[in-house]
Amino acid sequence: MEPSQPFLPGSTIGILGSGQLGRMMTTAAKHMGYRVVVMGAAPTDPAAQVADQWIPGNILDPSDVIKIKDQADVVTIETENVSAEALAQLAQTIPVRPDPGIVAIAQDRLKEKGTLSDMGVPVAPFRSIESLSALEAALKELGVPAILKTTRGGYDGKGQVRITDPTQAAKAFQELGGGAAGLVLEAVVPFEREISVVVARGVDGQIGHYPVVENEHRGGILHRSVAPAPVPAAVAQKAQDLAAMIAANLNLTGLLAVEMFLLESGDLVVNELAPRPHNSGHFTLDTCVTSQFEQVVRAVCGLGLGSGEQLRPAVMLNILGEHLDAVIKAYPDLSLDPLVKVHLYGKTQARPGRKMGHILVIERSVERAAAKAALVWHSLGFEPGSSARTP
Ligand SMILES: Nc1ncnc2c1ncn2[C@@H]1O[C@H](COP(=O)(O)OP(=O)(O)O)[C@@H](O)[C@H]1O
Ligand SMILES: [Mg+2]
Repeated sequence: MEPSQPFLPGSTIGILGSGQLGRMMTTAAKHMGYRVVVMGAAPTDPAAQVADQWIPGNILDPSDVIKIKDQADVVTIETENVSAEALAQLAQTIPVRPDPGIVAIAQDRLKEKGTLSDMGVPVAPFRSIESLSALEAALKELGVPAILKTTRGGYDGKGQVRITDPTQAAKAFQELGGGAAGLVLEAVVPFEREISVVVARGVDGQIGHYPVVENEHRGGILHRSVAPAPVPAAVAQKAQDLAAMIAANLNLTGLLAVEMFLLESGDLVVNELAPRPHNSGHFTLDTCVTSQFEQVVRAVCGLGLGSGEQLRPAVMLNILGEHLDAVIKAYPDLSLDPLVKVHLYGKTQARPGRKMGHILVIERSVERAAAKAALVWHSLGFEPGSSARTP
């Protein structure tokens, strides 16, 4: 159901998912005067703590998802790992933004790559894997190194195994469930840098840009984002144009984060799509005229988009479970620098690899921000080149 009028402050936005992205969307929406209801596992979840209302539910369970219908005026998501069939059912009676069809594409790596290829967007060479013999044949075709991934449910490097020798095929296949779940094999892209770009698209097709970001992953998890990415202006423009083209082709309302590999040749290969705010876009919260969280609310409510202009360069460092104690201990010291911002998501359990918060280092130049971020990380007791504690 697509209304012609915007949703005005006082309306209720329903968010499926209750993690940190939902939390930051919720606080943005609250600042703008909206009510927010979130669905997730526990009332202590990051978004449930700050929303007007929490609905207990498993967002992968259609019979739960549908319950948000009576509590919200418009529904959006904070993760693509949500029941797409329930979203489609919801969309018959209440606006769902982004469209359920887009969520169905973004939650399935095979559909995602197929859709992008159909649009003429370069992706890593890939094969659908239904059996061990199919994997062995695909390894011959694509070569090694390659990465075997579950088509659904993976995040932060979970649900994927790197294969460096064909003899590892059987072990990798077993590790990912032995064919019980859908699998895809991807050739490893020899990238020079990883970049991402968030683009917003309004109900009327208006496009809102953000600067391109460079991302550094450690152990499959985002460690550091540098904004703006130190890439040639022509590359940044190409990445933004590509993201806008994909958003327009999908007829998206909301945000689209596009993860890309930048090759030495300057060519771009798209890795993943996320039709929602993205970890690499957290710098927008403190340094852009309109944060990605305000922007998604504006888009989802059918309003005009705000400027995505970045006012100061910044480097973001993710705080994982294993970093939290050191960050809390150093909190007073960190607060002495007026251009260092610490965000914590209110998660009660700090498991290793779990995203607990982030640090944003703001500076006059991106080089200075990167240098200071390295100092901050070191001062916390962590190696600049590794997330492990120094001895
Ligand atoms: N085909 C690939 N070639 C090279 N690196 C890859 C490839 N696929 C994944 N990676 C690396 O693993 C990281 C996580 O993989 P990704 O597919 O983005 O899954 P997730 O959903 O966990 O973010 C990427 O950011 C990149 O560093
Ligand atoms: Mg990714």
